[in-house]
Amino acid sequence: MKKGMFICIEGIDASGKTTQAKLLVKNLNKKGYEAIYTSEPTRGFFGQILRQRILYGNKRVPAVIEALLFALDRLEHVEKEIKPALEKGKIIVSDRYLYSSIAYQGAAGLDPAWIEEINKWAVKPDLAIYLDVPAEVVIKRLGKKRSVMETLENQRKVREVYLRLVNEGKLMLIDGNRSVKEIGEEILQVVLERLKNRSL
Ligand code: ADP
Ligand code: TYD
Repeated sequence: MKKGMFICIEGIDASGKTTQAKLLVKNLNKKGYEAIYTSEPTRGFFGQILRQRILYGNKRVPAVIEALLFALDRLEHVEKEIKPALEKGKIIVSDRYLYSSIAYQGAAGLDPAWIEEINKWAVKPDLAIYLDVPAEVVIKRLGKKRSVMETLENQRKVREVYLRLVNEGKLMLIDGNRSVKEIGEEILQVVLERLKNRSL
């Protein structure tokens, strides 16, 4: 049976995830691999509720509500997009995934073990990359219309959790405070290495 590869790209807001995830898909396609881009929150039912009702309100809702809605959105994402792509042998690159919940809702005070528990149906990625950029740098990149997550204080807290996940060996750190090209080349190398080792 063909087996795809599931990669996720994580990081704080405006750390360059979308840029790098799309670049990786483009680079892999150029090399002849069937790679596709996807993202969370999704465009599905729960993803729309998150964007319309939760992320751009006047203040944050309780973190438990956020965690449950993101978990529902993820479950739909896994069933409708991730699993079918993997079954077809594709490489699927997700711009945010499970670690965003651990980092953002964890930084809001929730127990990371509980967040993992409610996400236990979400398939584990083969490779989880964390793009590290200081909070001060992303705050300068963010525009005027900021979500409830996009304050300097929150970005700092979320980054701390991501760095803890790197120390626990759950995420691979890539320095995101460089040019788009340099970061893109490093990510491509890491992925090609994984693909090579897998076919040995
Ligand atoms: P995210 O998906 O993490 O929110 P984006 O890829 O949308 O991040 O990038 C956020 C902003 O930062 C965009 O304006 C983008 O052009 C810019 N950007 C992305 N990567 C870099 C980089 N390596 N250096 C400087 N600016 C970048
Ligand atoms: P973002 O990547 O900014 O999506 P878009 O660029 O399409 O608006 O994600 C929206 C926000 O949702 C971001 O601040 C991180 C937050 N988030 C969580 O808090 N938990 C999660 O599980 C996910 C997937 C995202």
